[in-house]
Amino acid sequence: MPVEIVRVQPGTVMEFVRSAEREALKTFYDFSVIWHEQTHDFAAMDGEQMVGVAQIHVAASLANVHRVIVLPQRRGAGIGRALLRSAADVANYYNCHKMTALVPHRSAAQKFFERCDYREEAILPQHTFKLDMAAMRKFLL
Ligand SMILES: CC(C)(COP(=O)(O)OP(=O)(O)OC[C@H]1O[C@@H](n2cnc3c(N)ncnc32)[C@H](O)[C@@H]1OP(=O)(O)O)[C@@H](O)C(=O)NCCC(=O)NCCS
Repeated sequence: MPVEIVRVQPGTVMEFVRSAEREALKTFYDFSVIWHEQTHDFAAMDGEQMVGVAQIHVAASLANVHRVIVLPQRRGAGIGRALLRSAADVANYYNCHKMTALVPHRSAAQKFFERCDYREEAILPQHTFKLDMAAMRKFLL
């Protein structure tokens, strides 16, 4: 019987996802999975002033660095590295084996991650904004 594909409001599919996801993940990964995901935020504070932030997304034993931002006038003083270090501590606590980040290939951000002991793992050609992106990684365990 043919089905009609319709666009739905955000959240409408969640009840379906909740009931179908366990089996779908087992089929996808070929082992039983209990999916759990979290976001963790970090702030670099100079007294009352926030001078930098980082956000990681933790799921499936991976911690993806979603954001690292340091105020322009405070860059080059180790704040970004300190944010990544705190993020790695939390990722370790949640048993992540690996940190990841996606950055424009050969960019300043890639150099920053390399200086923070991340390695280039793959290049995704013509990815975000059609730019080549470098998948960076650091193993934790
Ligand atoms: C990338 C960013 C977070 C770095 O923050 P920061 O506080 O200046 O970084 P740190 O001072 O901790 O630098 C850590 C290391 O990276 C290097 N580094 C930082 N920025 C660099 C750059 N633009 N080019 C080359 N190396 C850089 C530093 O020299 C340092 O290495 P070293 O100590 O071995 O000499 C900051 O420049 C920023 O907010 N950029 C805009 C947003 C962005 O691109 N975020 C990253 C991807 S999400």
